[in-house]
Amino acid sequence: MTSTTTTDHAVHEARPAQAEHAAHADHVADHVADHVVNADATATYAAARDRSAVLDALIDEHAATDPTRFRMLTGDRPTGPLHIGHYLASLRNRVRLQDKGVETFVVIADYQVITDRDSVGEMGANVQGLVLDYLAAGIDPTRTTVFTHSAVPALNQLMLPFLSLVTDAELRRNPTVKDELALSDGRPLSGLLLTYPVHQAADILFCHSRIVPVGRDQLPHLEQTRAIARRFNTRYAAGHSVFPEPEALLSDVPLLLGTDGTKMSKSKGNVINLRDTADETVARIRAARTDSERRITFDPGARPAVANLLTIAGLFLEESPESVADRVGDGGARALKEVVTEAVNESLAGHRARRADLARDPAYVASVLREGNARANEVAERTLATVRAVMGMGY
Ligand code: TRP
Repeated sequence: MTSTTTTDHAVHEARPAQAEHAAHADHVADHVADHVVNADATATYAAARDRSAVLDALIDEHAATDPTRFRMLTGDRPTGPLHIGHYLASLRNRVRLQDKGVETFVVIADYQVITDRDSVGEMGANVQGLVLDYLAAGIDPTRTTVFTHSAVPALNQLMLPFLSLVTDAELRRNPTVKDELALSDGRPLSGLLLTYPVHQAADILFCHSRIVPVGRDQLPHLEQTRAIARRFNTRYAAGHSVFPEPEALLSDVPLLLGTDGTKMSKSKGNVINLRDTADETVARIRAARTDSERRITFDPGARPAVANLLTIAGLFLEESPESVADRVGDGGARALKEVVTEAVNESLAGHRARRADLARDPAYVASVLREGNARANEVAERTLATVRAVMGMGY
């Protein structure tokens, strides 16, 4: 996946936003609030972490009896295969929340693919690959709605009223938009890249989701979504809560690097994909960068590549990286790599086998998406009907 994916992109820390300038008198209160929230990205992050812990506890307490209270939406861009970073930081967590009874929506954000590139790429195969990984990981299509942007017209139409609620200045300040622009090789800023946080707000708000599991890089989008919900309610709905403000549920999985100790990237060949075979994984980890110190210790500052391997093994084994390091001890890089390889391959064996089985049944995979799209359309049409009604457009 490319740079906007939650895991890949988490390297880019949210930058403090500049002061907001109120564009409309009735936005002043929102702008002041936004300014306070965005003034210090670190404080925002700390607050989001604290709130996520509370949300986790509330979900444990109430999800089984009151599933819609925590309706959750999250998604991926279909730009390529999912890797172990996606699995550890988001896929596993989605399944965990689904299994607790949280009503779940997963958007395959196909229109978001063309925010920062000139061609759509292998769209069909990438979308199918995502569905395969979702199902193999345990996403249950009878409980979770998996859908694509492009198949849900009413969701996309929400973007029109939402665009009226944002200014170009605030979109230009969005740290993720800025980062994307910086990474796009001097390509000029397209209208879609500038406004995709508004489109993402439509993803989140069309189904009135309350919880959005995201990486740190996506927090500015969630703040933008909350501002859009507040402004819609104030300006167009006489203060009625047509759109409740969603909350971020931050992953506590640390940023994972590629097997060479640098940012994961398909072109660097340092990624372990979920669909890779056990042998491909063996080869990838055998080639992983380590260092020449024999004794294995967990020291992310001084030994980032070794620490990254320990972190990966620890996450798969549900063990701390320090205890993996203790176990390897004087075994050196070779023993470390054996532990990591075994952890990855044994943990993913079931996933990979299920994925291969499902891949032999493309008709089933297509039906999962068809049914998810149908359900998303029902929900989006209901929401759009409410939006038209409150805006006096119920002709
Ligand atoms: N931008 C997200 C990413 O690149 C994907 C995404 C699209 C998303 N719509 C969403 C995530 C809505 C959360 C909620 O990872």
